[in-house]
Amino acid sequence: MAPPPLNTILLTLTTILACSRGASPSADGGTDDRAVAVDPRAAVCPASDAATAPVTYLQMQRIFDDNCVSCHDVDGGLVLTAPHSWSDLVNQLAPDPDTCGGILVAPGNASGSYLYQKLSSASPCYGTQMPMGEFFPDPLPACVIAMVEAWIAEGAPAPVADGGGD
Ligand code: HEC
Repeated sequence: MAPPPLNTILLTLTTILACSRGASPSADGGTDDRAVAVDPRAAVCPASDAATAPVTYLQMQRIFDDNCVSCHDVDGGLVLTAPHSWSDLVNQLAPDPDTCGGILVAPGNASGSYLYQKLSSASPCYGTQMPMGEFFPDPLPACVIAMVEAWIAEGAPAPVADGGGD
């Protein structure tokens, strides 16, 4: 049997090289126009098969800890750190000049709760959508906003005294 002709070997080699060069089209590290696959802030969201479980305050606090407390800490205004956040939110009027928004968390009424409006609306009655980013609002993933909505709709249950559960 004769060895394969040289031009066949070269053609095979060029094909292999061309394919391996094209193998990593998005390795430039830059942002491209594909949808962001997974926002890390969505990690708090329940798996879809658990989506009907009631949202606990522990989960709310985790959302605040991850996204809000860098600004909403103890220095006046709305405090979202534990253990202040629940009592600063539930049945409380939004602080001036956000008072136009009314009650921050009206248990059972998400759309009437200014906390929910600040997270879900691009144009709340005052200021910007939360969380505020460095230059622009950086809205939370939809599933996180849905958790806040569900927690309010379920009556905004208070933090459970440390039972070690959850
Ligand atoms: C980079 C700083 C920053 C971050 C992060 C941030 N906020 Fe705010 N937030 C502000 C500022 C400043 C205001 C007042 C101006 C306004 O309303 O837009 C405000 C106002 C608010 C208000 C209206 C009541 C008030 O205190 O004036 C709510 C409710 C609120 N934020 C919720 C949140 C929640 C929930 C998060 C996290 C998901 C968050 N914010 C993240 C800076 C921040």
